[in-house]
Amino acid sequence: MPDYHHGNLFVESVSLHAVAAAVGTPCYVYSKAALQARWRAYDRAFGARSHRICYAVKANDNLSIIRVLQQLGSGFDIVSGGELERALAAGAAAQDIVFSGVGKSRTEIARAIDCGIACINVESAAELARVAALAAARRRVVAVAVRVNPDVDAATHPYISTGLKETKFGVPLADAPALYRAIAADPWLEAAGIACHIGSQLTTVAPVVEAVGEIVGLAEILRGNGIALTHLDVGGGLGIRYRAETPPPIETLVAAVCAAVPAHYTVMMEPGRSLVGAAGTLLTTVEYLKQTPAKNFAIVDAGMNDLLRPALYDAWHDVLPVQAVTAGDTIIRCDVVGPICETGDWLARDRELPAAAGRLLAILDAGAYGFAMTSNYNARPRPPEVLIDNDRFSVIRARETLTDLMANELAHLSP
Ligand code: LLP
Repeated sequence: MPDYHHGNLFVESVSLHAVAAAVGTPCYVYSKAALQARWRAYDRAFGARSHRICYAVKANDNLSIIRVLQQLGSGFDIVSGGELERALAAGAAAQDIVFSGVGKSRTEIARAIDCGIACINVESAAELARVAALAAARRRVVAVAVRVNPDVDAATHPYISTGLKETKFGVPLADAPALYRAIAADPWLEAAGIACHIGSQLTTVAPVVEAVGEIVGLAEILRGNGIALTHLDVGGGLGIRYRAETPPPIETLVAAVCAAVPAHYTVMMEPGRSLVGAAGTLLTTVEYLKQTPAKNFAIVDAGMNDLLRPALYDAWHDVLPVQAVTAGDTIIRCDVVGPICETGDWLARDRELPAAAGRLLAILDAGAYGFAMTSNYNARPRPPEVLIDNDRFSVIRARETLTDLMANELAHLSP
């Protein structure tokens, strides 16, 4: 959420020009205050209601970002052994971590049990059997939740819709009671909750409330049968405003969920995007302005390997010039594209920008699924990440080097 001061874009009290001068471009910049404000908004919205906010680490797994949230008292939702180690390395306690994900390996589950994870959200009967076997072998009681698939249309991009019965996620509602009976009968498993997550970038509360209604119904039936769960995990998914979307405020979503969940359950939420999305900006420099009879291109130094969302989802990110437009600027309608050898390597299309070579641009709302989805395609080192805290900034991940990129190969270079 950068804004202009005296004609230059700032994040908190730091000028983005100063950041670019210090670390170069492309680079990711995050606002600590924005991140904290969003987490606190969730926490406040729950009021006295028993709740747990488990940040979905996949949205941005930088250790310093995890630590900022950990210091606020956040829990964490992880989907891999790698995210587990990141959360632990950043200072999170295993008892504050829940493990989601559709394809957990034996090694990942074993490590999660060994370090004392709070809950494993299982997504199939086969996975439950695997967790049960690993728990029994260790003689440790493991808390589990079944992720159900409520078959609700979240009305979002098909790639990030996860609660329809055609998707790979969760267990059909009708199959869940049998899994809970198996859990209740197993001395090494504890039925702790139910989980669901219907999708990401949700812009209305209705599908969430519908899904919550389904899992509450299931939880109450289980309760009637002597299986009393302690928490209902309603997933993440709250959208942000990239362009003209009007997602509900955090308070509206939380109030709607709390109203639908009986007070004897702790409400668990796993927001990712709505915490970090708007807190992050990708800074990039125009290398060339290329004008052709068909189109103009601002060729910038960030590509689809640095921000994949436009290429993958046709996603919109606002682009602002770091130095505000002045009378002397020529405004050009152009596509903002990267240096990668793919036509799909674009970051923004048909934007009116002062796109002269050398100009610094800010690509907004890039904090969630931005750096997290970067790659080394075209042998491009990943950009650095910078955390701004009031009038100070620090590098929280150094720019990758070509030595980093080649490290695992040089020693194995065939003669
Ligand atoms: N919990 C579970 C089980 C999830 O699968 C996800 C996201 C979340 C929580 C967090 O959802 P959020 O609050 O961030 O919407 N790469 C895509 C988004 C993929 C989301 C996948 N699951 C994008 O850039 O839009």
